[in-house]
Amino acid sequence: MIEFAHVTKSYGRDAPAVSDLSLVIPAHRTTVIVGPSGCGKTTTLRMINRMLEPNAGEIRWDGRPLNTLGKTELRRSMGYVIQSGGLFPHRTVAANIATVPRLLHWDSRRIAGRVRELMELTELPESLADRYPAELSGGQQQRVGVARGLAADPDVLLMDEPFSAVDPVVRAGLQDLVRGLQRELDKTIVMITHDLDEAIRMGDQVAIMKDGAIVQAGPPAEILDEPATDFVREFIGRDRGYRGLGFAAAAGLRLTAVDTTRAPGTATTERPVLVLDARGRPVGWVDPRLPGGTMDLGTVFDPATDSLRVALDAALSSPVGRAVAVAGPAARYAGVVTIADLLTAVATHRDDLAESRAERAAHREVAVAEPAEPVSGPGPVDDGVVPEASS
Ligand SMILES: Nc1ncnc2c1ncn2[C@@H]1O[C@H](COP(=O)(O)OP(=O)(O)OP(=O)(O)O)[C@@H](O)[C@H]1O
Ligand SMILES: [Mg+2]
Repeated sequence: MIEFAHVTKSYGRDAPAVSDLSLVIPAHRTTVIVGPSGCGKTTTLRMINRMLEPNAGEIRWDGRPLNTLGKTELRRSMGYVIQSGGLFPHRTVAANIATVPRLLHWDSRRIAGRVRELMELTELPESLADRYPAELSGGQQQRVGVARGLAADPDVLLMDEPFSAVDPVVRAGLQDLVRGLQRELDKTIVMITHDLDEAIRMGDQVAIMKDGAIVQAGPPAEILDEPATDFVREFIGRDRGYRGLGFAAAAGLRLTAVDTTRAPGTATTERPVLVLDARGRPVGWVDPRLPGGTMDLGTVFDPATDSLRVALDAALSSPVGRAVAVAGPAARYAGVVTIADLLTAVATHRDDLAESRAERAAHREVAVAEPAEPVSGPGPVDDGVVPEASS
């Protein structure tokens, strides 16, 4: 766990870039700091690996003040990734990835093995190893940047707007890659972005920053449900209720059956009939008026892995108002859910949210009535973050 306690950082005599910032960054989770340009995100991140030192306040890592830890140790235990990878243009991909292991004087066989391993992990073809950064696509450069950040197997990965230079499709791929790596490697990730959707997608904790301080931090579902200030509400924008459905699992939905056929030409149309292919996968709904006898399926959802948001979209995009559920790696037909059933599930989800809200409010009241004993100096009590027991 990394803990900021009342940290302030000024550059020269300007107004502080970071001002009385308190935040708890839990270990083995992804924390995303999001906020408008110039609010102090990069300054905050650079204090974590001591590229910058605070003027006041303290940063602790697993309870130890950062300024008692050597910068070399920090460089080994904290990887750093920036936009476009921040790659050295005159070094090959392999040499870029090997940057920190070289600084740590690993022998060349160990370095070569590690480079190969990282290229595989970040899904970079081996053939790219001898290319220079300018000979790569933006997405590939970013993968090299991630590989380089992970090279010495650090505990913490710091990422400053890592995906802002690539298009939305490549960006989504990189987001999936890093989320997968986080789960697989169990790193503590601190990531900065301008993009709230990215923050919500990537973060176990989202910290919203304004004018050098954190205005709200918590799980994304909680922030969407209960923005703490007008600024947060405006920053999140519209659709927050709908986006919140992305955090509710579709697993509890009741599946019902519809008639199915593998030969649409022969089906009657009193009731909706689902067309399946030879392997049992849904392909569309029967409509004898159309050539081929089949109309569009709409989107489908997998109850085991998808959210209520995806299920609702499947119902809304279905020409017959039924969300088609699929299951297993082959995505075979598993049943349908009507819009009415989905709306009932949405209402239940609302009730659950209201309950969590009430619990949080009660928790806050207890916290005010019995203030926790400060460990050393004043702790982060007023930023809405519940400190983790330990890391
Ligand atoms: N080296 C520096 N010298 C003086 N002022 C600086 C320096 N670096 C940043 N600042 C100022 O500190 C404030 C915060 O900058 P910072 O880079 O932390 O913002 P940011 O949130 O990362 O912004 P962006 O989203 O645009 O990257 C800004 O007002 C900036 O001008
Ligand atoms: Mg920045």
